[in-house]
Amino acid sequence: MKSYQPKTGGQSQGNAKPVIITAALPYANGSIHIGHLFEYIQTDQFARILKLQGRNVKYCCADDTHGAPIDIKAKQLGISPEELISRFAKEHQRDFADYGIKFDSYYSTNSPENKWFSDYIFTKLKDNGHVYEKTVEQIYCPTCKRFLPDRFVKGKCPKCGAPDQYGDVCENCHSTHDTKDLIDPYCSICRSKESKPELRESKHFFFQLSKFSEELKEWITNHEGIQKEIKNQMLGFIDQGLNDWCISRDPPYFGFKIPRSDKYYYVWLDAPIGYISSYANSIGKKEGAVLSEWNVSEIIHDIGKDIVYFHLLFWPAMLHAAGIKRPDKYIVHGFVNVNKEKMSKSRGTFLTAAEFKELTDPQLLRFYFASKTSVKVADIDLDLEDFVEKINSELVSNVANFIYRCTSFLHKHFDGKTCASLDAAFLESQDKLACDILEHYNNFDLQEAVKNILTLSSQGNKYFQDNKPWNLVKENPEKAEEVLSTCLTLASRIIVLLKPIIPNLAGKWESQLNITITSFSDLSKKLVGHKINQPEIILRKLEPIKVGKDSEKNTVENKTPGFEILDLKVGIVRKAEPHPDADKLLVLQVDLGSKQIQLVAGIKRHYSLEEVIGKHIVVVSNLEPAELRGKKSEGMLLAASKDDIIGLLETPLSSAGEQVFIEGVQPSNTTITIKDFSQLKITVKAGKVVFQDKQLKTAKENIRSDKVSDGRVS
Ligand code: MSP
Ligand code: ZN
Repeated sequence: MKSYQPKTGGQSQGNAKPVIITAALPYANGSIHIGHLFEYIQTDQFARILKLQGRNVKYCCADDTHGAPIDIKAKQLGISPEELISRFAKEHQRDFADYGIKFDSYYSTNSPENKWFSDYIFTKLKDNGHVYEKTVEQIYCPTCKRFLPDRFVKGKCPKCGAPDQYGDVCENCHSTHDTKDLIDPYCSICRSKESKPELRESKHFFFQLSKFSEELKEWITNHEGIQKEIKNQMLGFIDQGLNDWCISRDPPYFGFKIPRSDKYYYVWLDAPIGYISSYANSIGKKEGAVLSEWNVSEIIHDIGKDIVYFHLLFWPAMLHAAGIKRPDKYIVHGFVNVNKEKMSKSRGTFLTAAEFKELTDPQLLRFYFASKTSVKVADIDLDLEDFVEKINSELVSNVANFIYRCTSFLHKHFDGKTCASLDAAFLESQDKLACDILEHYNNFDLQEAVKNILTLSSQGNKYFQDNKPWNLVKENPEKAEEVLSTCLTLASRIIVLLKPIIPNLAGKWESQLNITITSFSDLSKKLVGHKINQPEIILRKLEPIKVGKDSEKNTVENKTPGFEILDLKVGIVRKAEPHPDADKLLVLQVDLGSKQIQLVAGIKRHYSLEEVIGKHIVVVSNLEPAELRGKKSEGMLLAASKDDIIGLLETPLSSAGEQVFIEGVQPSNTTITIKDFSQLKITVKAGKVVFQDKQLKTAKENIRSDKVSDGRVS
């Protein structure tokens, strides 16, 4: 094949600018799921394409670590925010590696570089007169002693009266409203009934976004790297009028302190700055030197359609105001649905990266997603039947079959070695298609590229079939050898073209064909007089994949039904006394860290008062309060029993209020009844307290029972 130069963008390889390509920074308080993966996979594929074109590329990302939700979740788990974000950093990076997503820098917004760039940009904005202070009213929870992010306030819908609605939109009547208008609002963190969220004044920093309306309008209108539908959406926002943007938050908050102030930067101020810090990390430079390089690079952001306001209005306005280069290209994608519906925990279709990996090879998801990656902002359907069908008919029966046929035939009849002559006419007839594929890659149109790669492979299969090498070997072995050598050269081209999409599978084929691919120029290599390695089948047809209620095996949701209804906490018994009206019961005062509760427990025959006082126990803290023989019980302690022995679950190393959990399950924030609880089967096996084979633990230790090593917990 003649050598190929991408046509658009004037990026002939020698003088092309360095590229910084980014994917949105995932929040550091949750697991990566298959919706996220669509973005990180496609950006990885784009980065690999640019690298195979010979460009100097840095694929940069980071964990988005700041904000009130991180602070709140860490407190609920009884750990520091730093500990929380470091756990998720490890998990995220493990997941990305599993899916062949290779960053040049995966960093954190809680880094010294990010602090430096945030201060730098904030100070520039302020010095240039784009920041002012204003007092505003916000919702405050007197029990939690904090201002509440909108998501943490719930109440009755002001229009239809439906209970437990969020502040912005009612899920029942779909009306939109203001958080302040909710009826009987409550704080979803403490659910306190005594004190309600109230309005309080606070003085905040505002960025004068409105001042940039004209400037943004012009920039967006003339921008060549924004999809048309996104351009229109943004111009629509500008026409409706832009509001100034509140960029500070009150403590308690996890983030960066604003210099000479008691406030913190709002997480969305320092999050996109994380792109610059991650880039700094990738080139190992600092401060001004980083900005100099940023300013001469081609900057590409890949994001989901939900965060366009931040990336196409706030971010460019901030950069412009601070004198820093704005992005050259945005790739905005839609949302992933599963089996045509929104991903849902109850349908078992809210699959984390780790869960999906249990169902099939991650490389196959990369292929499937690429086949759905268009340049439009459409939602993507991950239909599991279609997934299996596509992998089987396209990747297995077409591509893998072609490669295996060529290699195994060559191996069997010609000792794995190609001859000196190739069918030039056939190979040339395919040059145009290969060039088209590179052009689709250049436009990041993976869907079209994949379609054409499959055509290339079908043509290879047809050529093989039409030439009937199994007859030729007997009738005209020289011709047979030429046909096989030609097919092998085509197979190597297909592998080059698939390399950015499915790098690991391509790598296996590379070693079978005994080739090494480093750039798209490898497309012109002719495999003459070339010895291959032992052929092997590397892909087989998939069986149907089932999730949720369709699944026979206990996949995903079925693995842990129930445990998510619990909120278990470590409690320390501060006081214990016999129940005045019952001879089996003790009345305990238990410290849960944030509060003290009273529990009535049937353990008087098994424990002395001295034994229980000071003990660290496990408490169901979200149980409906009950009266037991006239004494209030605001929860339940957990104990294991076997025959007549009862042994409390204990956590000697953990502090009051720490979360007790099993891997992968979040604590509940609604109350349950004793009956709900009694349906869960928690057991002790060989000293370990488990729910469906998952061990109960705190951040510090595994839970055990002090007297029972095998039994049922109740
Ligand atoms: N932390 C912010 C981004 C800050 S960027 C300076 C955030 N994080 S996120 O974890 O919620 O989302 C990360 C990316 O994943 C976003 O681009 C988002 O659009 C994308 N997706 C999240 N769920 C998705 C689907 N179900 N489908 C496709 N993309 C999805 O937003
Ligand atoms: Zn509260």
